[in-house]
Amino acid sequence: MPYLRARMNKILAKPIIIAVDGFASCGKSTLAKDLAKALNYIYVDTGAMYRSVTLYCMENKVDIADPKAIDAALQAINIRFERATEDASLRVLLNDRDVTFDIRTDAVNAKVSDVATIGAVREAMVKQQHTYGVDKGLTMDGRDIGTVVFPEAELKLFVTASTDVRTQRRYDEMIAKGMEADFELIKANLLERDRIDSGRAISPLRRAEDAVLIDNSDLSRQQQLEVALRLAELAAKGGSDLSE
Ligand code: CDP
Repeated sequence: MPYLRARMNKILAKPIIIAVDGFASCGKSTLAKDLAKALNYIYVDTGAMYRSVTLYCMENKVDIADPKAIDAALQAINIRFERATEDASLRVLLNDRDVTFDIRTDAVNAKVSDVATIGAVREAMVKQQHTYGVDKGLTMDGRDIGTVVFPEAELKLFVTASTDVRTQRRYDEMIAKGMEADFELIKANLLERDRIDSGRAISPLRRAEDAVLIDNSDLSRQQQLEVALRLAELAAKGGSDLSE
């Protein structure tokens, strides 16, 4: 695809923040990662941060209904991202332990949205997320990036796809990683997380008014990247009304 090749590692008119939000397993992180690679930007997966807090609470039997226990847990938690030397993939470190794989299990999937409703958890995660945006040149994906974390982001994308497409993608991803996968179980979890994420009182998942909607049900990975790169170019030049 010549358009993409010509723009690989393209320097935009100025460094920007690209916020990518959307429903569970809609391809947000794939898009945010591909954008970061094409633009030579930092990529931050905020879902991995909420997943890491969840894993810590599960492993340490933290009573998530007890605010004191949550505060103590947050004090004890250190989350870092690191590039693997072998293949440059992004690793998630929880207190220096590689949890990249452990945070994607069904058990964590089942609990993460409850942990993500807790105000103190969100406050701590958002504080850390802000530090990544200081120099711009950032793509960040999650649920509240365009609405709460970086409401001033130059480009906001809201990604969506049909439930069956999302379920199939998560199923394929788990099988590829050698994990056990059950289509109906995955589907039920995605819908339940969307329900909790959209309905919570603090920072609910919603499309920011100025976010561009990308339904990628019928788009290939390359096509969605191409669309987003065009938008990034416009945003870096100060383009307005991108959401129209
Ligand atoms: O990859 P997937 O769409 O399955 O989920 P994720 O991005 O890893 O996020 C896992 C969960 O973390 C979500 O279902 C939300 O409950 C929570 N989350 C959040 O509340 N706010 C964010 N910015 C990111 C994730």
